Amino acid sequence: TNNKQIAIDGPASAGKSTVAKILAKKMNYIYCDTGAMYRALTLAALRQNADISSEIELTKILADIEISFKQMADGQHVFLNGEDVTQEIRLPEVTNSVSEVSSFKKVRAELVSRQRKFSDSDSIVMDGRDIGTVVLPEADLKIFLVASVEERAQRRYDENTKNGINTPFDVLKKEIEDRDTYDSTRKESPLVQAEDAILVDTTGLNIDQVVQKIEDLMN
Ligand code: C5P
Repeated sequence: TNNKQIAIDGPASAGKSTVAKILAKKMNYIYCDTGAMYRALTLAALRQNADISSEIELTKILADIEISFKQMADGQHVFLNGEDVTQEIRLPEVTNSVSEVSSFKKVRAELVSRQRKFSDSDSIVMDGRDIGTVVLPEADLKIFLVASVEERAQRRYDENTKNGINTPFDVLKKEIEDRDTYDSTRKESPLVQAEDAILVDTTGLNIDQVVQKIEDLMN
């Protein structure tokens, strides 16, 4: 087909989803936030008081849930069995458990298969940790988006402040570092730059500059 694929991977809070959303809109591609899918499963598991260290329990929960995206006036929303969980999946409880949930092979196999289905029928921008390496290995453009941990913590801090979440800067910074270490050192599909991905360091760049850089690379 003529469908195009852009894969954006990188550590936490590097601006992947912000940039991916803008690119998708500009190019009329769909956008798939794979982190939101792992977060939605994590939320479902936490609500059921499931044992999130149990691959079997998580796999069962996943089999019963539908995760979908819908374009709304204020941007893309995330739905868990039809319920809008766009805000809830960003809560600290979910953020602090999502990496463990994401570490299991069967969980990943199921979500990767759902993610690939999104790319069957449309051109797509997909962001996550294993898009260029595992989900869309034939992507037309692979970006590995990084920024200094200080800057990423500051971005997350500013975003939280807007949303009324008051986690101290140092706590956020530590959470980001811990999550990156966990994601990069896990056995299944660790966060790693694909061989054919282009490294884009966004430290000191604003969103428009990053989007421009990726558009230039796409052309
Ligand atoms: O991108 P976001 O920060 O929302 O991702 C949340 C977590 O989900 C990551 O820290 C990682 O553990 C997991 N994840 C993953 N593979 C992806 C996307 C996210 O393992 N493709």
